[in-house]
Amino acid sequence: MDALCRYRPRRSLLFVPGSHVRALEKARRLSADVLILDLEDGVAPAVKQEARRRICALLAKRPFGHREVVVRINRLDTREGLEDLTAVAQAGVEHLMLPKVEGAGQVEQAVSMARQLGAAHRLRVWANVETPKGFLHAGEIAAEEDCFALVAGTNDLRACLRLPHTDDRMALLHALSHLVLAARAHDRYVFDGTYIRFDDEAGLKRECEEGRRLGFDGKTLVHPSQIDAANAVYSPTQEEVTRARQVIEQYDGILEAQRSVGVLDGVMVEALHVHQALRTLRQAEMIEKIQRLAA
Ligand code: COA
Ligand code: MG
Repeated sequence: MDALCRYRPRRSLLFVPGSHVRALEKARRLSADVLILDLEDGVAPAVKQEARRRICALLAKRPFGHREVVVRINRLDTREGLEDLTAVAQAGVEHLMLPKVEGAGQVEQAVSMARQLGAAHRLRVWANVETPKGFLHAGEIAAEEDCFALVAGTNDLRACLRLPHTDDRMALLHALSHLVLAARAHDRYVFDGTYIRFDDEAGLKRECEEGRRLGFDGKTLVHPSQIDAANAVYSPTQEEVTRARQVIEQYDGILEAQRSVGVLDGVMVEALHVHQALRTLRQAEMIEKIQRLAA
């Protein structure tokens, strides 16, 4: 993975239904890092075909600037899904989201079908993990060669688990942590599920903060009003950037003294902290770059 791909911010991932013309138009000016152009659950059956055509036309025109574009297709065991894959493969999709991935083989199967259908690019697959089976098999899914990211589908999971409609994610914590573990075991990105009460700012912020503490890279969103909170919570803070610089400086001194461990403000510092610090600085640089592009 090149440095641009590895460190680009993916803090906010906005679902934009392929059937919502105004939303697709508006998405060109929004500060979401990633746009997920949706053909699956965000689009009614009657307008799926029209949405597919619209999304393919957008893939050709590339009107979304620096924002990363992912297309979510329907399940490949449906006629809609096969038609989606055929169309988006030929339209040059680079980032493909598969819904309800449940086990090993599905990612590679989609990629090999896309190649046969004429996909020109190396596909990066974002596996939407949304069912108990999917979460239990997250490690096998992440291990697939073309799997780029795991994306938690928390609303589907809630429904499958028959959880009551509350904001509390206590019953999901095991599944969410497991997803992060599975993704990192294979050096993949991992994203948190959506918060569907989009007029509840405090609730959204709380859930973004929880996701970040659990180790996610960013949050999937359903409404533009949610972008700023996700961008803020998933950006390194000024204190984190300052600390990262101090750790790197301190570590240079540690190495010069031919030691492997040192202390900064009462906290032990070793090589692993330097790796984390470098990552923080690269992320901060990339966010600045993206902000300059958007200005
Ligand atoms: N992406 C981009 N723009 C969006 C958007 C989205 N997901 N959701 C709303 N907007 C735009 C609207 O087009 C509107 O733009 P305008 O001011 O130019 O007219 C503006 O934001 C305000 O929208 P609002 O009126 O508050 O919402 P809405 O009634 O149009 O839509 C939802 C509400 C929930 C239907 C809509 O946000 C949506 O479809 N979200 C995605 C749902 C989805 O994809 N679900 C499946 C994955 S979980
Ligand atoms: Mg879903």
